Amino acid sequence: MQYTKTPTLSLAFTLIITLIMLQTQAAAEQIKLPPETAKLRVSKLPGYTLATQQCLICHSADYINYQAPDMTQSQWTNEVFKMQRSYGAMFSEHEARSIGAYLAVAYGNAKATDDSVVAASKLDPSAENSNANTIIDVQVLLNNNGCLACHAINKKLVGPAFHEIATKYKGDAGAKSKLAASIQKGVPENGGKCLCRQ
Ligand code: HEC
Ligand code: HEC
Repeated sequence: MQYTKTPTLSLAFTLIITLIMLQTQAAAEQIKLPPETAKLRVSKLPGYTLATQQCLICHSADYINYQAPDMTQSQWTNEVFKMQRSYGAMFSEHEARSIGAYLAVAYGNAKATDDSVVAASKLDPSAENSNANTIIDVQVLLNNNGCLACHAINKKLVGPAFHEIATKYKGDAGAKSKLAASIQKGVPENGGKCLCRQ
């Protein structure tokens, strides 16, 4: 494991890729043509939800679309681990396997009924305090709490895009508590005004 250089490098990558994505998006909006390939293929597998949350932070779904169509589950799972090892993507091993299973079904040569896919797609029983159980509810939480009035996933509204926030806090070990404070009390470097809660 070489953790020494990777974080800085991957942060730079992320920034660049985010900038490119923002530009592409702006261009797309001008001609009012939403990029179809920017979306992941829909699936009922839990890995789909995880992938929409974890795989579009740094780059568009095109990276996934352009892979060979006959990749196996283990090839896709390795690809997911590569994002973690080489580029600093953050998810648990269990989540990685679940995403790998989804990708193999949606983009590769696996079937949702394959034993290995079913096994990798089970919810993680050991992850009570991790995101595994709550992650599915994020969209609902954002919706119910009125967050989406001011925030979108990848474009600035009243508040910054969630992509932008992810980039800002990427690799920050204290992100969880800092973000909780920002949402409840306001962003410190902006005078700590409480904007996110009415
Ligand atoms: C932390 C940033 C980051 C995240 C999160 C991330 N990737 Fe990547 N991904 C990269 C970078 C950087 C590249 C390489 C870009 C290049 O070579 O132009 C890449 C490239 C790829 C490629 C192209 C093939 C390759 O190996 O270079 C695929 C496929 C891919 N990513 C899939 C995924 C999937 C699936 C996920 C979700 C599990 C994911 N990525 C999450 C940063 C990320
Ligand atoms: C009335 C508009 C509004 C609503 C509603 C809102 N936000 Fe925000 N949010 C903002 C603005 C504006 C900022 C930028 C704050 C600043 O620069 O002081 C922000 C910043 C943030 C940040 C970044 C904090 C940081 O440290 O950089 C997060 C995370 C966030 N909001 C989450 C949420 C969540 C979760 C909700 C729903 C509970 C929510 N927001 C509801 C306007 C809003």
